[in-house]
Amino acid sequence: GQQVANLTVVIDHQDMSLCLHAFVIARRRPEIGVVSVTDGNSGRAGVRARNAVDISPPQELSIETVRAVDKLVIALPKGRILDEAMPLVNAAGIIPEPAFDDPKSRLLRFGTNHPHIDIIRVRSFDVATFVAFGAAHLGIAGNDVLMEFDYPELYAPLDLGIGKCRLSVAEPESVAAGDDPRRWSHIRIATKYPEVTRRYFAARGVQAECVKLNGAMELAPSLGLCARIVDLVSSGATLLANGLKEVEVIAEVTSRLIVNRAALKTRPDEMTGWIEAFRKACGG
Ligand code: PRP
Repeated sequence: GQQVANLTVVIDHQDMSLCLHAFVIARRRPEIGVVSVTDGNSGRAGVRARNAVDISPPQELSIETVRAVDKLVIALPKGRILDEAMPLVNAAGIIPEPAFDDPKSRLLRFGTNHPHIDIIRVRSFDVATFVAFGAAHLGIAGNDVLMEFDYPELYAPLDLGIGKCRLSVAEPESVAAGDDPRRWSHIRIATKYPEVTRRYFAARGVQAECVKLNGAMELAPSLGLCARIVDLVSSGATLLANGLKEVEVIAEVTSRLIVNRAALKTRPDEMTGWIEAFRKACGG
């Protein structure tokens, strides 16, 4: 109940981001008046953490700054998954500001009906990177992306059952007719998934030389870049339209809720609350 004048938090700069959360929690306590942070190693007073707040010299953090630092950021993938993901996000109780649905808007970060939650909209591969580095706390990403990066910082507690497709090997119909995959020893593959592709073929003794493309893989065989591709297949219409045949399935793919492991430790109630909200939203 009664305010104390100053609270100085001395921290090790290795633990800045953990400290910042302790600091934010401390700042919420009404009995604490002024909070300052001092780097225990350098003696430099200040905080440089995930959201790049710098307090130098030590000073009181305003409630506005604390709130800005404390925002929960959810990363969502652009493109067709977004149409399937938004009903779940809404059912979990998160409604983005109107600009989110405005195709003319150039905004990349959006407020929501929760003042402390923002949504960012990025490429599907980048969702995993933003969350792994702690720039976003939660995200939605396919297991294709998770397999490709294999980030240890990510935890995927929930299969959302959306974005169903498969990661497959395909080749021209004409090649497939006389091909025996058991005889491959060295193949060249155009793909957005070089790591998954190399690992998959290495496990059966085939050396896969990958040519990294970011889209329109289906063009590679007809233009002589690579005879084979590894790409996502959903309806199969893109393969068919380009004279290609699916010859092997590497993995079945669905979208997962992903969380940053450090955020799960530092903000356990909030993070597990949202995981549960998404679990209910997808009927799990
Ligand atoms: C994906 C994938 C294929 C296509 C497969 O691309 O890379 O090209 O969908 O779907 P289908 O089997 O139903 O034809 P997407 O349209 O998502 O765009 P991208 O190339 O930007 O990933």
